[in-house]
Amino acid sequence: MPALPFSRATFPLYLAPMAGVTDKSFRQICKNYGADVLVTEFVSAEGVFRRNQRTREYLDFDEIERPIGVQLFGADAAHMAEAARQVVDWVAPDFIDLNFGCPVNKVVAKNGGSALLKDCPTLTTVAESVVQAVAPVPVTAKIRIGWDADLINAPRVAKILENCGIAALAVHGRTRAQGYSGEADWRVIGEVAQSTALPVIGNGDLFSAETVSRRRAETKISGAMIGRAAMSAPWIFRQIKHYLTTGEALSPPLFFERWNVILDHCRAQVREWGVEEPAIRSLRARLMAYSKNLPEAKSLRDKFQHVSTIAEVEEIAHRHVGENESAGSLKTLAGGLI
Ligand SMILES: Cc1cc2nc3c(=O)[nH]c(=O)nc-3n(C[C@H](O)[C@H](O)[C@H](O)COP(=O)(O)O)c2cc1C
Repeated sequence: MPALPFSRATFPLYLAPMAGVTDKSFRQICKNYGADVLVTEFVSAEGVFRRNQRTREYLDFDEIERPIGVQLFGADAAHMAEAARQVVDWVAPDFIDLNFGCPVNKVVAKNGGSALLKDCPTLTTVAESVVQAVAPVPVTAKIRIGWDADLINAPRVAKILENCGIAALAVHGRTRAQGYSGEADWRVIGEVAQSTALPVIGNGDLFSAETVSRRRAETKISGAMIGRAAMSAPWIFRQIKHYLTTGEALSPPLFFERWNVILDHCRAQVREWGVEEPAIRSLRARLMAYSKNLPEAKSLRDKFQHVSTIAEVEEIAHRHVGENESAGSLKTLAGGLI
């Protein structure tokens, strides 16, 4: 297993776990663009026990994705510990990540995800039990800064998790009550990084290389975690690395390269699913996210709503590049893409 790059010197870039988004095909695209650490979509401890098909798919990864963590959620310490042990036996991830940040009602109603931020005794037993169950495999955690504006307790939770033997902590700078609205509060992320010995991975609203660099300079974070920005621009990892190394901004890829990413994603999804039409239909929302970074986004979104085959996506790509990029790049498209 590769060592986890948690030191401040290496400043790892994490792809944020995102349910319905960070499946194997997408994770590998981000890896190709320089994401250092990957995490699966969240998996319920109960699903692990049942070993149902969906859970198998969530846990599936290729060796090239290492270092990779499997993210688990649940509120029952014994179940979480047993599920973590089974996952380690089953797929041997590089680490287990505990979800203490999910805001979704279905999860919170069962005291899982961010609900544990207001139940620190249970959070403690979950973390301790999982750490003990899978040692020496590292266990990390992902939290929000608190439950709501009246309970912003991330620094205290970080201390608790540090004492439980957690190896690193990702902090999303919003409360559960905020959902995804408002802005991530980087002041609290900074406080957490300042007050704990744990490597803190800062997360929330990192939409450009310059922002990552600024947040790194302002806080003691040991790494950065990128979520929504990667959905429409997976090359952001390359841009961030370039900026952090040289101090210069790297332009985003030309349209034909962006389209190559989109088409590669479609092909990988079809390979994974083994059947073309359901695979491409499952990608419609993802294609719409990619369109955010392309001209004529609205017209593209309308077209993506109806695609079912790779040929249809290729046809849209061909026309779009023809209409929007210079003749030089078009040659590349004609020679190498379609
Ligand atoms: C579609 C979607 C699904 C998500 N699923 C998860 C998840 O399964 N586990 C988790 O810890 N966070 C999940 N998150 C939260 C992200 O990991 C991240 O904390 C959040 O998007 C803030 O980062 P960003 O501003 O870079 O997007 C999800 C976010 C989105 C947008």
